[in-house]
Amino acid sequence: MTYFPETPEFTKLSEQKTMMEDFSLRTALADPKRFQDFSLSLKGVLFDFSKHLITDDTRYTLLSLARSMNVEDVRDQMFAGEKINNTEGRAVLHTALRAPRTASVMVDGENVIPFVHQVLDQMKNFSDAVRNGTHKGYTGKPITDVVNIGIGGSDLGPRFVVDALTDFCSGPTVHFVSNVDGFDMSSTLQKLSPETTLFIVASKTFTTEETMLNAAVAKQWLLKSAPESAISNHFVALSTNKDAVIKFGILEQNMFPFRDWVGGRYSLWSAIGLSICMAIGFDNFRDLLDGAHTMDEHFMETPIDKNIPVMMAMLGVWYVNFWNYPAHLLLPYDTRLGKIAKFTQQMDMESNGKAVDRDGNVVDYATGPVIFGEPGTDSQHSFMQLVHQSPTPIPADFMICKKPSHDLKDNHDCLIANFLAQTRALAIGQTLNEAESDTSRVFTGNRPTTSIVLPELTPFNLGLLIAAYEHKVFVQGVIWNLNSYDQPGVELGKKLAKPLNAAIKSKTIDPSLDGSTQGLLNFIVK
Ligand code: F6P
Repeated sequence: MTYFPETPEFTKLSEQKTMMEDFSLRTALADPKRFQDFSLSLKGVLFDFSKHLITDDTRYTLLSLARSMNVEDVRDQMFAGEKINNTEGRAVLHTALRAPRTASVMVDGENVIPFVHQVLDQMKNFSDAVRNGTHKGYTGKPITDVVNIGIGGSDLGPRFVVDALTDFCSGPTVHFVSNVDGFDMSSTLQKLSPETTLFIVASKTFTTEETMLNAAVAKQWLLKSAPESAISNHFVALSTNKDAVIKFGILEQNMFPFRDWVGGRYSLWSAIGLSICMAIGFDNFRDLLDGAHTMDEHFMETPIDKNIPVMMAMLGVWYVNFWNYPAHLLLPYDTRLGKIAKFTQQMDMESNGKAVDRDGNVVDYATGPVIFGEPGTDSQHSFMQLVHQSPTPIPADFMICKKPSHDLKDNHDCLIANFLAQTRALAIGQTLNEAESDTSRVFTGNRPTTSIVLPELTPFNLGLLIAAYEHKVFVQGVIWNLNSYDQPGVELGKKLAKPLNAAIKSKTIDPSLDGSTQGLLNFIVK
């Protein structure tokens, strides 16, 4: 595998970075053609890259770097079902989940598309039955509330999508319980009736401690007032682990399967999306998949110089590795997209927050950035001070919908004005002269942003947007030579929690523990 700092493009980019000491976005943006030259769009969704610290040359070199790191070949391998998750020996096929029925993707000699569509049909039939009242609770009442019990990828994707598509929600109320903090489950259950509540236990492995504990609490709660047979009306499982599902007491016919080639943080398109179907109905879920599939086709078929996820990714590499900007900000100017940063945090940081490459070598370059964000305009009144004026700039993606789903025109005009003003202020800044010699009011400018404009927030456009971020993370993983599809960094904490849980229950403190942990244990539990 090519070591990316040894490529000629890396050297060129380092030189170009040095030459850009005097680059001014204010000057660059005086050219009205720049917006056209540096914007890409797909199905009416605009990605404006003109407010970035790039020239034609840097763009060319960044894209050449993508080529010389074989991004296109590895992309083709991923789509074809090759086992690019090398540490776990698995294919990476979230793209197959949104492919049409007529597609063919082979894994270990099997075309997996019929299986994908069989599960989609199962999801459609069951969500239709719950939504139209045919599927009833154990006393014959229709289901009014659905609780998704899952964590990480078995929570964040569906939670984000259901929230974002609130205008399309027409089914039972969908709740999400993820945290092992008992407050999460107990405060949710307080609002519900066992007769009309359906629990979806969402866990790829069906071994995740938090989920199993919360699912057991939900089962006890139901069985306090219902017979054992009620479990079949009130519990379904989304998992790859049939044996564990059956052991928990959920019937095989109430299980919605998926395969090990679906990574947790890429799983909202799989059976894990059942809560989404419950909320918005299967047809809207299909539109979400179609939007993602449209981005898949774009990513597969569009030359690198017009390829949206490649551009997003290479700009990220430019800032992380050449400008030493360690964070990336997501700023939806749309309350409905409020959870995009939380969702992308897992997808990006669990994928590329790694210091060991796919060949087992410790890397000597920076990898995935810290992802954070909150909706504008709220964020303008909290952390944007730092984003405008701290010594370390933070590249940001701003997002907005042209058409809102409400009729408060003045509000929407004001929202758009703020969206434009923020990206303009970050790019152009304010000189000492403009600040009338008040140094505290100087804005350096040259702070890079992408503006993403959706025509409106529909399932299709949302699917397209999420898939763009998935492929961005993929491309960056190829450049950094990471396996973006494992997550060894979450294991140590899980392992250490087990004996500590036993120590808490028995109130015995292992003297070989470090002093701080002993002190805390003593303070909390004794
Ligand atoms: O945090 C680690 C992790 O394995 C995530 O990758 C995953 O999304 C989450 O836990 C939940 O896992 P599962 O779906 O197996 O319960």
